[in-house]
Amino acid sequence: MAGEMSAATGRFSLERLGLPGLALAAALLLLALCLLDRRTRRPGEPPLIKGWLPYLGVVLKLRKDPLSFMKTLQKQHGDTFTVLLGGKYITFILDPFQYQLVIKNHKQLSFRLFSNKLLEKAFSISQLQKNHDMNDELHLCYQFLQGKSLDILLESMMQNLKQVFESQLLKTTSWDTAQLYPFCSSIIFEITFTTIYGKVLVCDNKFISELRDDFLKFDDKFAYLVSNIPIELLGNVKSIRKKIIKCLSSENLAKMQGRSEVFQSRQDVLEKYYIHEDLEIGAHHLGFLWASVANTIPTMFWAMYYLLRHPEAMAAVRDEIDRLLQSTGQKKGSGFPIHLTREQLDSLICLESTIFEALRLSSYSTTIRFVEEDLTLSAETGDYCVRKGDLVAIFPPILHGDPEIFEAPELELMNIKDWKLIHPGSSLNTTSEIHHLHAN
Ligand code: HEM
Repeated sequence: MAGEMSAATGRFSLERLGLPGLALAAALLLLALCLLDRRTRRPGEPPLIKGWLPYLGVVLKLRKDPLSFMKTLQKQHGDTFTVLLGGKYITFILDPFQYQLVIKNHKQLSFRLFSNKLLEKAFSISQLQKNHDMNDELHLCYQFLQGKSLDILLESMMQNLKQVFESQLLKTTSWDTAQLYPFCSSIIFEITFTTIYGKVLVCDNKFISELRDDFLKFDDKFAYLVSNIPIELLGNVKSIRKKIIKCLSSENLAKMQGRSEVFQSRQDVLEKYYIHEDLEIGAHHLGFLWASVANTIPTMFWAMYYLLRHPEAMAAVRDEIDRLLQSTGQKKGSGFPIHLTREQLDSLICLESTIFEALRLSSYSTTIRFVEEDLTLSAETGDYCVRKGDLVAIFPPILHGDPEIFEAPELELMNIKDWKLIHPGSSLNTTSEIHHLHAN
């Protein structure tokens, strides 16, 4: 309520300022930001690129074409440099042999501090920053995404996939056409949601389709939401987020049937630290739901897109699946249920390679950590200092286009030599650092 009031007051006063007033206010703000930010490069620090825009720094150039801009900076300044981006100083480390400096240094370079800030901005979860015990206990729940629990999740996902497709097929009398992205997002969203949170008891298809549409509208504005733009300036995102959070309240989710272990264990932890009715519980569920579909939807989209563009690749993937079905005594067709174990799925090398290639070609992933104390990162090529409060990041897309690693990086699906797996455990792992992919 207080938030809504201040937003309304803010809008009122801006309108009354008029155009000349706004221009003057913007000029004064820029001047204040220039005066406040007097940072210069200190000895031992990487090159500093502040751009010409106070506070925003190089944000516009990076947004326009991230890959080319990063390559230009690499040519000019080498593999390590610091840029000003939306009020934050980020040191990029582009040499893949130095990635471990960022990923393995959990004590001084924190994922948690970075992600907790993001969780507050994006999902309005405020307690994680203060309550370390709850944070630890929620992280322990990730064990239910591994091992035996993952087998159970997979089993339930297969059942849900079958039901979603079967109900579509029963309704359809001839071929339907759909756009690829809405098709992928609708399938992945429904299957993931029902696998984690269960099915709505009352036969109410509207619940899931409305939730999906709201979720996609929310996700569409995600990049703006996590930047420092006030949510009040982002159209109706705030009210959509509130609606989704209400939909994921303890009361509503208690009515679902077939909830997963990972959901149940998270709900138990949340109910230990919040009262049952607290809407922040729904905000936690929104965060987890986002993590579970934000990467899988674009991954499915791009994998299908490249397969459709390359009939020879599509034929190899189909043939591999047909052979697996044959060897496990299963038949194709809408009347025949298909059941595959995790081991059998793991044996689909052509399919897995297609997904890795789709990730290589389409991901603009950035892995970011928060610097907890002033420190010196030591690499073979030299030491460099980073400051407390800054961010450190790696940007693997540069590697994904490197001809020293991929024979023909510009060619689609051509790096799958004889359909042998590009092994995910190799020293230059192409996929494990993907964060958010771009589908349009
Ligand atoms: C193509 C599929 C996926 C990709 C490429 C992917 C990638 C990633 C990456 C790169 C991170 C950040 C790690 C870091 O910076 O160290 C992450 C975090 C996370 N992902 Fe995924 N992910 C995928 C699917 C999923 C799914 C299906 C789920 C849940 C069912 C999930 C749940 C999470 C969670 C909960 C986190 C936060 C972990 C934490 O707080 O420590 N992801 N993911």
